[in-house]
Amino acid sequence: MITYAINEKVIKYRFGHPICTDAVVKAGIEIKKKGIEFFQLEEGKTIKLSYKMGDDDIVLGLGENQRGMNKRGGIYESFCSDDPLHTSDKKSLYGAHNFLIIDGVDKFGVFIDYPGKVIFDIGFTYKDYLEIFIGDNDLDIYIIKGNSLKEIVKNFLNIIGDGYVPPKWAFGYQQCRWSYQSAIEVEKIADSFLKYDIPCDAIYLDIDYMEDFKDFTISEERFPNFKDFVKKMKKKGFRLIPIIDAGVKIEKDYDVYEEGVKNNYFCLDENEKPFVAAVWPGRVHFPDFLNPNARRWFGLKYKLLIDCGIEGFWNDMNEPAIFYTDRGLKKAIAHAKELENENLDIYTFFSLKDSFIKLSNNIDDYKSFYHTIDGEIVNHYKVHNLYGYNMTRAASEGFKKIAPNKRFLLFSRASYIGMHRYSGVWTGDNHSWWEHILLNIKMMPSLNICGFLYSGADTGGFNEDANAQLVIRWSQFSLFTPLFRNHSAMGTRNQEPFSFDEESKNIIKNTIKLRYALLPYIYSEYMKAIINKDIYFSPLSFEYDDEMSKRVENQLLVGDSLMISPVYEENAKGRYVYLPEDMLLWKVEDYNDRSYQVVKAGHRYLEVDFSEIPIFIRKNKMLVLGKSAKNVESIDNGELHVIAFVTDKAKYIYYDDDGKSYDYKRGIYTQIVIEIYKQHEDYYINVDSTGNDQIEKLHFDIVDINGKIVKKTVNI
Ligand code: GLC
Repeated sequence: MITYAINEKVIKYRFGHPICTDAVVKAGIEIKKKGIEFFQLEEGKTIKLSYKMGDDDIVLGLGENQRGMNKRGGIYESFCSDDPLHTSDKKSLYGAHNFLIIDGVDKFGVFIDYPGKVIFDIGFTYKDYLEIFIGDNDLDIYIIKGNSLKEIVKNFLNIIGDGYVPPKWAFGYQQCRWSYQSAIEVEKIADSFLKYDIPCDAIYLDIDYMEDFKDFTISEERFPNFKDFVKKMKKKGFRLIPIIDAGVKIEKDYDVYEEGVKNNYFCLDENEKPFVAAVWPGRVHFPDFLNPNARRWFGLKYKLLIDCGIEGFWNDMNEPAIFYTDRGLKKAIAHAKELENENLDIYTFFSLKDSFIKLSNNIDDYKSFYHTIDGEIVNHYKVHNLYGYNMTRAASEGFKKIAPNKRFLLFSRASYIGMHRYSGVWTGDNHSWWEHILLNIKMMPSLNICGFLYSGADTGGFNEDANAQLVIRWSQFSLFTPLFRNHSAMGTRNQEPFSFDEESKNIIKNTIKLRYALLPYIYSEYMKAIINKDIYFSPLSFEYDDEMSKRVENQLLVGDSLMISPVYEENAKGRYVYLPEDMLLWKVEDYNDRSYQVVKAGHRYLEVDFSEIPIFIRKNKMLVLGKSAKNVESIDNGELHVIAFVTDKAKYIYYDDDGKSYDYKRGIYTQIVIEIYKQHEDYYINVDSTGNDQIEKLHFDIVDINGKIVKKTVNI
């Protein structure tokens, strides 16, 4: 099963003396010094690459970004940005993922390993040109070749190293909301899940669990006897996931602040004093995560919460987000004072407004602090995209020291390629907008291509109020994303499944139950993707080479067997779907009802009621299905169902492991190879199982091209 790609198809071009990003971990890649295959190169103090695209070329990748799966027609900037308004004019979101694949006349990937700002103009200025601008001349560029899109991605994933594997419970449903103010409130949420019999594995603690928004503190007043509370909640079946922010509050006698100052662990300003910016707690210092000593120190701080029984974290505000600096604030106030008694015309009014709007995440601030890298002082602006990555690396390396063989849940808001080895990502502060379901759908394969498999969006939308239908439709997509978390902002309408009417609550409940029933498949496909250096969500063009499959942006392949076509328009009770081949449709309302329909290849209109979730099983593929339970740990998978669509012969490799340790890396896992051969009107099934001590029976629904079902059971 483990098939590693060879790296001879990767060529590295080195310019100047790049700062080591640790994005690429594969040693021994051939380095070329002259020219770059496929591109025209302009070299000076900055670097520009140009590539002439063919009329029908598509460009995939760029991870967490705006617009389509096909990035052509847009201009993008890699610069981790805390921007909560994800409108399509924006050029950067929270992640910086500089890997692209050109699929057309030529087929290749390009990775720009540079930690500062990179601009990708993909046919925006000149419709046929892909132009990449790097404002520096110290960097590495990689060209990745392969015979297919799948092989190019495999070759890329092979050089950037194994993706992050969370514990299995982190594939369960998770509930978050910024405003769960106290232990009482958190417990009430948990009790509602139990009362309504809605499965859930984790409840999140946002900034309000802390004392004055100070990292690694717990409010005694709102969360008394925290350790006991964590234990009590775990007994009820829920894990608690606290947030950790990048900024450390400046406050005398606060240990994290005092230790950071004493040991020079904070980023410095131009006077070599700890740099001051303001975030949630007011004035903070930023730990210098690019300094390995600071990383070690910060990583071990998580122990305080781990010792209380915490097994997962989310790292936030690590672009790093800056609300304001004293420099910026002084300037803005001076500007306001200057204009105090003026009659403001259009220009003066907007300049006044701008001086306050531009207080946050201001480029001048990012240029005014420094890191110490290998004894050298480096301006933050040059290495901006490494910050969140290294905060998260600090946490992950800390966990490895604290509990070496235990998997923790960890995901981050800011990221750069390389961080995928340490954690997942969530896609930040989206809105309760229908457009953002579609953006979420398009972003998932783009993130996967860049190595980030454990990812998901704030289901239901973070900002603004959601209605029940939006949360239903969004959950019906998120049930397929490895991270399935419903999250919303303080002050918005509650959007937990039980916040709506009875009918909507039941639909969301059935959707979450389906997620748990699909877990054997979801986990198996996730783990095989990680181990084999494949992806979990793919565009159709990864498996089908017809022209139409290249253009489909609103359907995805999930693992090896499934295609999904989520509904993402308000009031829609159906949608058009493109089928590159005949497929078996299972429209799910309640996962215990299994009835199927063969849908012929081509463009079809599919009716999808609010309570229905269409799942397509590809030809000669199988879907392994278990049972739902109150959480992942209580699932009983002694008997599994296999839905197979077989016209000739089909093979599926089912994977499972202990879900909590890294023993799978030592070959300790379950593997069941299922093969089905069609023989006249019947089927021959072969099951070959190793390392299995759980599954006793497999119940098969084998469906042929005419929709005829044959049921069989195999004892293992
Ligand atoms: C940021 C995060 C969001 C969180 C909020 C408060 O906006 O992106 O998820 O709820 O901060 O901590």
